[in-house]
Amino acid sequence: MKISTIILAAGKGTRMCSGLPKILHKIANKALLRHVYDMSIQLEDNDIKIVYGHGGDLVKERLSDLQVTWIEQKQQLGTGHAMQQVSEHIANDDIVLILYGDVPLLKLSTVKLLLANVTSQSLGLLTIDLENPKGYGRILRDTAGLVIKIIEERDASECEKNIHEVNTGIMAVQGIKLKRWLGQLNNNNAQKEYYLTDIIEMAVAEGVDIVTNQPETEMEVLGVNDRVQLNQLERAYQQEQAKYLMEQGVTLKDASRFDLRGTIDRLGQDIEIDINVILEGCVSIGSNVIIGPNTCIKNSIIGEQVEILANCVIENAVIGRGSRIGPYARLRPGTVLGDEVHIGNFVEIKKSVIAKNSKVNHLSYIGDATVGSRVNIGAGTITCNYDGVNKFPTIIEDGAFIGSDTQLVAPVVVGKNATVGAGSTITRDVPENQLTLSRVKQVSIAEWRRPVKMEKQ
Ligand code: UD1
Ligand code: CA
Repeated sequence: MKISTIILAAGKGTRMCSGLPKILHKIANKALLRHVYDMSIQLEDNDIKIVYGHGGDLVKERLSDLQVTWIEQKQQLGTGHAMQQVSEHIANDDIVLILYGDVPLLKLSTVKLLLANVTSQSLGLLTIDLENPKGYGRILRDTAGLVIKIIEERDASECEKNIHEVNTGIMAVQGIKLKRWLGQLNNNNAQKEYYLTDIIEMAVAEGVDIVTNQPETEMEVLGVNDRVQLNQLERAYQQEQAKYLMEQGVTLKDASRFDLRGTIDRLGQDIEIDINVILEGCVSIGSNVIIGPNTCIKNSIIGEQVEILANCVIENAVIGRGSRIGPYARLRPGTVLGDEVHIGNFVEIKKSVIAKNSKVNHLSYIGDATVGSRVNIGAGTITCNYDGVNKFPTIIEDGAFIGSDTQLVAPVVVGKNATVGAGSTITRDVPENQLTLSRVKQVSIAEWRRPVKMEKQ
């Protein structure tokens, strides 16, 4: 069956108190609307349409990669009115699935369950029993337990308000029926809005069965209306991801202090992650990796048995097997480390390849460099890769030893097994195997006396 998913996303989101349309606010660094899209795109034979309104241009700009039809609702006159804007785009025999752009954590499995109930003679409705149903539309059932109507909170009697089963807003029904019912909606209600929920009564009147399902967890159908709820869903989402990782064999020192804002592409075994670690974008982590506290890793590949000590920031980097990074190291985009490389504290590496068994252990900046294997780069070494206008490369060949506090003024090549004396400013290529140093000769002045304090006049 062909599915036509409509995501309602025209609402303003006043309670966010934000210049940004609500659906562009993020959970795990991904816009709310994108969460809904990413889930629904997984349904086969699905055509997605988004009803947008507030902040429309910005929404379309930020989400321009979505494969959807954008339909504008100029005035927000209710959920039924939003659906009326889409009516002409719906084919008669499509199964229409209605989702909300501000309900980001709905699961594919729940939607599939709902869709399984829809035939030409039935409508699928997702409901949930809430301890506190305030604000939601209530589900009215007859004595036989069949759904007969949804009544909005503002229109409900005191008795109806005591009903705990509520409308999640998510439903699925055949196109031809939906279009007919949408054409019959009116706004005779407390909010003077066109309520989509009124189609339930129309369906019942036509003898269409209302088949309800409930999601596995409440979190799936919770909407974001303010920043408190945004945070609640962020935490719920992170908790779920943490649980998933632990189930896959990852040790988290504190599941509530771990954030995954993206995906883990490849996950080894026996990985240990300390507190306050943030993984972003697409990260791959090999077996037996240890990640210390307060570390951010973005779009990187971490090889097996790597140890990352506390407080590192790693982005677009590849780290070879058995390497040790940090504490306080920064690996910037384009860093590629071979196996068993050591990068120590206060070291910044940018767009550089460092081969097997090399060490940069203290206080260095290595940028636009190609470093061979078994190279030792002493404390305070700096590649001067930038003349203020252009960037130049530094090449350090296998086995070289760079003394502490050396400046390598690029472009420059340090030959194999060369030694550079501490404190050198290297401006020309360094030959293989030799000691090279550029240093003012040390002198001592025997008769020198320290100045004495002059007497005040
Ligand atoms: C709606 C339901 C209510 C349900 C609740 C679940 C109706 C009449 N009521 O109420 O039964 O319990 O959701 O959260 O449907 N939207 C538009 N255009 C509009 C109005 C809304 O696109 O003109 C979109 C919003 O952006 C949002 C969704 O529809 O994504 C729901 O709108 P909202 O105003 O939050 O609905 P509720 O009044 O909470
Ligand atoms: Ca409303």
